[in-house]
Amino acid sequence: MARVFSGIQPSGELHIGNYLGAVTNWVALQEQHECFFCIVDYHAITQDYEPQELEARTFDMAVSLVAAGVDPEKCVLFVQSHVPEHTELAWVFMTVTPLGELERMTQFKDKSQRQESVLAGLLNYPVLQAADVLLYRADTVPVGEDQVQHIELMREIARKWNARYGTGFFPEPDAALSGKARRILGLDGEAKMSKSLGNTIGILEQPEEIWQRLRPAVTDPARVTKKDPGTPEVCNLYALHQLFSPSSTVEEVAQKCRSAGWGCLDCKRVLADNMSTRLAPIRERAAELRADPDRMGELLAAGADRARAVARETMREVRERMGLLPGEARAPANR
Ligand code: TYM
Repeated sequence: MARVFSGIQPSGELHIGNYLGAVTNWVALQEQHECFFCIVDYHAITQDYEPQELEARTFDMAVSLVAAGVDPEKCVLFVQSHVPEHTELAWVFMTVTPLGELERMTQFKDKSQRQESVLAGLLNYPVLQAADVLLYRADTVPVGEDQVQHIELMREIARKWNARYGTGFFPEPDAALSGKARRILGLDGEAKMSKSLGNTIGILEQPEEIWQRLRPAVTDPARVTKKDPGTPEVCNLYALHQLFSPSSTVEEVAQKCRSAGWGCLDCKRVLADNMSTRLAPIRERAAELRADPDRMGELLAAGADRARAVARETMREVRERMGLLPGEARAPANR
C-alpha cells in the first residue's frame, strides 16, 4: 500500500484551486492508502503574516478540510508544528541540500522578488517540505502543478541523504496530479488561482458572494459585446464549467458562446448556480464543525499523536545512521 503525504498552508481560506487541484485527490486517496495530511503552519510563517490571526486560520483550514471530505477516521490529519520532528529533519536535510538548487526554485525566485530583504526561511522552505514528506517515508504526494519542482528537489534530497547515510532508506516520492485541475486559473484569467493574488473563490463562500466574485471575472477578450461570438476554449469560465457543471450544460455553454446566444453574464449566472449547489454540502458541514471547536481540537490532537509515533521512529533511525550520540544514558557502541 502506497503511503501518501500532502500539506496545505493555513495562509488564507481553502479556495477552489486548492480544492480541485489537491484536496479532492486527498479525499479519493484516503479510501485505499495510508494517508497523512498536514496543515503546514511553519511554512505559512515564511511570508508576512499576522500572529494573532494564525491560530484561527489553522483552525479554519482544519474545518474546511474535514468539511471537504478529508476524514480523520480514514487518514491522519494534523498540524505541522505539533510534530517537532518536521523541523528537526529539515535541519538534517539542510546539510545535504546544495544552495544553488534552492536558489533556482521558481517559487523562491517569484516570492523573493516581491520582498525587500529575503529571509533564510523562504529559501529553505522546500527543505522543510522535503522533511514533511520523507519523515513519513511517503512515496506519493497529491499536489497541484505548482509543487512539482519542489517534489523534484525532494527526490534529490532523498537521493543525496541516502547516498551518504543509508541506501534506500528514504523513498523518492512522486507527485500525483489531478487531470484537468492541476492548475486552476484565477478569476483574472491569467495567473494561477492563489490566496496571495486575491483572485480566488473560497469553498465556503455563500451563493451571493460566489456570484459577486464571478460577475467581474475575465472571459474571452474577443467578446466585447453580447453579440460577439466567443471561443469557449480560451475562456477560463468555460474551464470552470467543465469542473462544476454537468456535461450537458458544458455542451450548451460551448454552443451558446460560439453562437453568441448567451452573453458572458448569462454563462456566469449558470456557473455561479452550479458552483453554489456543488459547494452547499461543504458549507453546511463546515458550519456544524465550527459549532464544536473542542471536537476539532481533539481530532487534531489525535492526528498529531499518530503522526508523532511514525515521525519519532524515523528520526531515531536517522540519528543512528548519522552517528549522533543517543540521548538515553548509554555509552557509544564502540567503547
Ligand atoms: P498551498 O498551500 O499553496 O496549496 C495547497 C495545495 O493546493 C494546490 N494548489 C492548486 N492546484 C491547482 N490550481 C491552483 N490554482 C492551485 N493553488 C494551489 C497546491 O499545488 C497544493 O497541492 N508548499 C505547499 C504546502 C506543502 C506541501 C508539503 C505540499 C508543505 N509541505 C508537503 C505537499 C507535501 C503549498 O504551498 O501549498
